[in-house]
Amino acid sequence: MTIAIGSDHNGVALKEALLQGVLKGLDVRDFGVFSSESVDYPDVAFAVARAVASGEYERGILICGTGIGMAIAANKVKGIRAAPCSDVYSAKMSRRDNDANVLCLGGRVVGPGLAAEIVTVWLNEPFAGGRHARRLEKIRTQEESCHDE
Ligand code: RB5
Repeated sequence: MTIAIGSDHNGVALKEALLQGVLKGLDVRDFGVFSSESVDYPDVAFAVARAVASGEYERGILICGTGIGMAIAANKVKGIRAAPCSDVYSAKMSRRDNDANVLCLGGRVVGPGLAAEIVTVWLNEPFAGGRHARRLEKIRTQEESCHDE
């Protein structure tokens, strides 16, 4: 699986912890940032979200202070289903029911241990399909009409 990861200044420490830990050895491209200098999270969110939406990467992981800004921004990119998750159950269900292709974490919300558990579950849980695919199709249809407006 190919993974695109990115963070703002509030997520850079957690990003490093994941890259040195649970993501080590996986096919991951780091879209930055690489320092704690203040940046605008939408810039990183759009870069990672576009890389996933284009099919260049299968999954994305975005980290800011809360995970919320990254999710709001990433979900503006057509084809992205970004889920902010602070617990293992939500991460699992975001894959099973929602086929989330971007996971958003809060560097000020979850510690590195919990974040590693969340990422592991999220990378491994399959999409259930069935009725959930029908529901996602409805979201896709709405997304198409937004982009036509
Ligand atoms: C700082 O820009 C902060 O708002 C950001 O890290 C994130 O928490 C946004 O949701």
